[in-house]
Formats: sequence, structure tokens, C-alpha cells
Amino acid sequence: SGNAQNDAVPDSLVVVSNREPYSHEQDDDGEIQVQSAAGGLTSALDPVMQSRGGTWVAWGSGDADMAVADEGIVEVPPSDPAYDLKRVPLSDAAVQGYYYGYANQVLWPLCHEDTGRIWAEPAYWEQYRAVNEQFAEAVDTVADAGQPVWFQDYHLALAPRLVRERRPDATLLQFWHIPWPAPSVFRHCPHSGALLDGLLACDIIGFHTAGYAEQFLHCVDSAFPAATVDTDSGTVTRAGDTTRVIANPLGIDVGGVRDRARATDVASIRDTVLGGSRSDTSIRLALGVERLDYSKGIPERIEALAHLWDRRPDLRGDFTYVQKASRTREGIAAYRRYRADVVDAIERVNDRFGTDDWQPIVYTEANLDNETLAGLYRAAEVAVVTPHRDGMNLVAHEYPVACTDGDGALVLSELAGAATHLDGALTVNPHDIEAIADAIERALELDAAETSDRLSRLQHGVEALDSSQWVARQFSAGQSL
Ligand code: F6P
Repeated sequence: SGNAQNDAVPDSLVVVSNREPYSHEQDDDGEIQVQSAAGGLTSALDPVMQSRGGTWVAWGSGDADMAVADEGIVEVPPSDPAYDLKRVPLSDAAVQGYYYGYANQVLWPLCHEDTGRIWAEPAYWEQYRAVNEQFAEAVDTVADAGQPVWFQDYHLALAPRLVRERRPDATLLQFWHIPWPAPSVFRHCPHSGALLDGLLACDIIGFHTAGYAEQFLHCVDSAFPAATVDTDSGTVTRAGDTTRVIANPLGIDVGGVRDRARATDVASIRDTVLGGSRSDTSIRLALGVERLDYSKGIPERIEALAHLWDRRPDLRGDFTYVQKASRTREGIAAYRRYRADVVDAIERVNDRFGTDDWQPIVYTEANLDNETLAGLYRAAEVAVVTPHRDGMNLVAHEYPVACTDGDGALVLSELAGAATHLDGALTVNPHDIEAIADAIERALELDAAETSDRLSRLQHGVEALDSSQWVARQFSAGQSL
């Protein structure tokens, strides 16, 4: 039951992630400004840390002085301190090799099954190991005996083993926020054995879908013939230690998104966003929201929109696509090129179809706060989420919840984790440009009954995965061991 699950959540814990939940930056006047991180990981874990307490260990990527003061520990949130944030300071070389190198040029493309983009400089692996060692040392410094340690994501695959060597009896958990690839893809990794060995130091490893969990088990099975892998129960027994591998989908703070959507002023958000374009209420909007990551399938979507305006001239002047994009990982050439390609493609489409009073695609890199984003969701009749591969994709969760007026349709890649859990979307193959165009067209033409039926199915699916349950599920998996 939900209560039994909540009982499994420890009174105090250690969370370990690459990104920090709060960053402190010095502004031009020398004042320290605190920003809280916006992503799914933080919004799921920060409430738990605030209620249970403990320590969050993360890369101190903000102001360097803050990162090393008091052994790197600050109390957060600054307004009402509830837990410790322990910052791990990383050198420039470490950031280059560990973050821009191994994490994002080996593991990210590997796990998104884009092996052509893997680039594994020897220094990347060295730095990845060294940084995981640094994180393990930090954990060893802050963790009390009996405090479970929960590692997050692909930046920290080796740290569990390094902590286990120092703390044989600790309870260690990991959640892998991105996909786990098929064994035939995982074989491309030059360090596959070491990564699996690092992760198997955990008692519990979570993935967003049963498919990822199963692929992980198959990878373990082929890498370690001496291990006992039971795919039915999701357990690996190796050298006397047992690891439970679970599907534990991460959702969103449903109530928070809904409240923000209800409170928002949709008309003014339309005005702001459509600024250069005609902003009257008659223009129908579709929306995409993503980091400028090559896994997100943005160029195919733009091509699909061009097809649509090409074959449906009546939609020109009438229907605008808004692309909200965030710059990301720009230390990597592939990301810089991707952004340039997206911007070029949008410019071409706008040149081709745009008129004096209508801009087909509105592109913005503005840093929107959550309230504005919720308003944008509400203003959009269609959300288009078409990644080639995506661990879960929380935009696909947020959009239906923010559609508080009861209309809104989701076009969703069948290769996003969200497609496994949510029913009611118009699903597409993210490489099938014609199918994406068809799905957007269909979304614009759904009758009111079907729109509302699909939307409520989506909303129910998202509610069932509310992020508050995610933490409880991860810990309660240990109870049946
Ligand atoms: O979804 C995977 C993930 O690494 C998240 O953990 C993170 O918040 C997001 O991508 C953004 O990436 P980055 O931390 O590299 O900016």
C-alpha cells in the first residue's frame, strides 16, 4: 500500500547527483544569488530531502568560493534550511573529461543508442573515474552509519562500487534517468564491464521502464557469466551480493503544475510569445519544449511542419508552432552544430511560408519561469514531443496536466519512456516525417469528445506517476529482498 511504501523512505538520507539542487552565484554587485534547479530530478528529490533531511552531494558548479567554504557544505534551501548541500569542487580538466567527455560523449550517446556519436578519448575515462572517486570520498565524509545513499544518473556509475569498498554494510541505491540500451548497443562501450560492476555495488537500481531494466539485466548476463540473473524477479546475484533491478517511472509534481497552470494569464503569455507575429486569439498554437539535444528529434519535426504547411495551405496564417529551446552542453561540438542546424531549419521554413502578419515558427531561448511555461502549455492546442530516444520525458507529463481548460492533444514519440506509461497520446515514430505531419494535422482536427477523452486518459496516467510516489517505490523495493 501507499503507506507501507512511505514507511520505507528513511528518516534521513544522502542523495548524490551531478547537478546541485541550489546554486549560489555572485552577481555583478558581489551579492550571492541563489537559484534552485528546475529539472525533474530536483523537483522530485528536493521535497523529500526537505521533509526527511540529510545531505545532498553534488558538483559545485556555481561560485567557486562558495563551493569550498566550510568543506563545501551549505544549508539549503537558504530561506528555510532543511538539509545540507555538500559541494564537490571539480577542476576544469575534470569537468572537461568527466562531464563534457565521458558522461556526455560516451554514456549519453551510448544510452540513447546513437553510437556514431560516441567519442571516447582516454582522458575522458580517466577523469570519469577520478571524479567518481571524488564523489565517493565526499559521500564517505558526510554519510552517517545507517543512512542510505542514493546515486542519481549516468554521471555516477562507478561511485557506488567505490563507496561500497569503504562502507561494506551501507544501503546503496541508484536511479538511471536516461534509457538503458540494448545489449547489442551496450557492446560498443569500451568500459562496459567496469560500469556494470560499479552499478552492481548497489542494493537497488531503478529505471524508468521495464524495458530498460530488462535490457540492463541482459547486459549483466552477457558480461558476467558467473552471475545469476533472474529476469522474472529482477535480481542479480554476484559474488554473494544481491542487486534488485526495478522499473520505477519518475513523474512530476502534478498538483504544482496544475496550480501554476490555473493561475497563469494565458492571454498575456500569448502576447509575449507571439510578439513578432499576429497575436490575436484566433491563431492556433502547437508547442515544443526541449534542451537543444540531438536526441530530441527537432529537425524532423520542423521538416514535418513544412510538409504540413505545404500540403495544407489553409493552415498557413492560422497555425503557429512555438519552439522553446534551451542551450545545453555547448562545450561539445555536436551540441553547437545541432543548435545551428535547428535555427537554420526554422529560418528556412519561416522564409518559405512566412507572411507580413504571420510567422510560422516562433523560436525562443528565453529562460521561462515555471508559471510562464505552464501558461504556454495551456495556450497550446498541441504539444509535440518527438525524441529519437528519451528516458522518460517530463514535458509529456506536464503538458496534459497544464491543459486545465480541458483541451489539448499530445503528439508523442513511441521511443520516449513516457509512451510506455501514458495512454491517450497520438504516438509516432520520431524518424517518420510524414507520420509526424499526419499526427499534428490530426491533433488539430480531433473533435471535442475525442480530445477530452484522450486528455483525461493522459491526465490519469500522469497522476498515477506523481513524483511523490517515486521515492517511496525506490526504497520499498528493498523491503522484499
Ligand atoms: O535527463 C538526463 C539529465 O542528465 C538530467 O539528469 C539533467 O537534469 C538533464 O539531463 C540536463 O542535462 P545537464 O545536467 O547536462 O544540463
